[in-house]
Amino acid sequence: MREYSLIAPAKINLFLGIVGHHFSRETPPKPDGFHELVMVMQTVDLADRVTVRETSRRGITVTCDDGAVPQDETNLAYKAAALMQQNFPDAAARHGGVAILLEKKIPMGAGLAGGSADCAAVLVGIDLLWDLGLTQAELQGIAAQIGSDIPFCVSGGTALATGRGELIDPLPDLDNLYVVLAKYRDLPVSTPWAYQAFRQRFGATYPLTPAETEAKKQVLRSGEMLSAINQRQAQRIAQLLHNDLEKVVLPEYPQIQGLRDTFAALPVMGTMMSGSGSTVFALCDSEAKANAVRSQMQQQIDDVTLDLWVTKFCASGVHLA
Ligand code: C5P
Repeated sequence: MREYSLIAPAKINLFLGIVGHHFSRETPPKPDGFHELVMVMQTVDLADRVTVRETSRRGITVTCDDGAVPQDETNLAYKAAALMQQNFPDAAARHGGVAILLEKKIPMGAGLAGGSADCAAVLVGIDLLWDLGLTQAELQGIAAQIGSDIPFCVSGGTALATGRGELIDPLPDLDNLYVVLAKYRDLPVSTPWAYQAFRQRFGATYPLTPAETEAKKQVLRSGEMLSAINQRQAQRIAQLLHNDLEKVVLPEYPQIQGLRDTFAALPVMGTMMSGSGSTVFALCDSEAKANAVRSQMQQQIDDVTLDLWVTKFCASGVHLA
């Protein structure tokens, strides 16, 4: 039976701007409950390993080395395989079932897209297993049906993400930047909660039509962060880190605010919460500096439930192990 093992990298958000309501494509367009975003996403080399294998029995199984990860049809990796079976019934009939093995390094509820990365890896893995020869754009189209972050996880690197987060424009790769990640082990943040809290607090200021939304989006798209990335100005990028969700998550979670404050007092280029949290990251321009920051965080916070990683920007999304 054939199998493929893939590397599924985590992401951080260098910029997460909430523009307003996301509008459905129907006419007239209506807010669909999601948010229109302008994000700069970046993959890092903290990664899960995902193996997909053909099985003679039809059906899908998910096995994970972390017992806290759901191994049923609620797992995004399962949903990816189910959607591939649905979209490609002939190939599914020829090749039998799919067994998925997840070897987790990316924490859950962390704002690092761990579940989305695994999901993207299953799509890429099944494309290979079934010799479908899908293009990256085709895979991203399928990915967008499952979740907003998954198309980015397919391609990775540095990218602008707009729409719900599923429309991806590659940006120049940023290399030689190191990232210290800090997360309390038993402190996940719910993404739907974070967006809902933001909407409750700031929704009254949202643009009311798709045209107004587009205009506001253009302002962010032409903003300083993108020009700093295009010119590869690492120091400037670090100064321009931004995440709108911090406005609601930090006041609600003093521990996350504490990580942010502790990083900010250390010699880092910049610090920010990733996605909806609970991970906070700090950028450094060398591995030695990143390791020193990690040790200082450990000493200053001195909590056994604090997990810290030193990782690096990477230029790829899902790829073969
Ligand atoms: O698309 P995904 O399932 O990853 O999104 C998780 C949740 O995050 C959504 O259910 C929604 O509550 C929120 N979300 C949002 N607007 C977006 C993306 C996500 O409100 N653009």
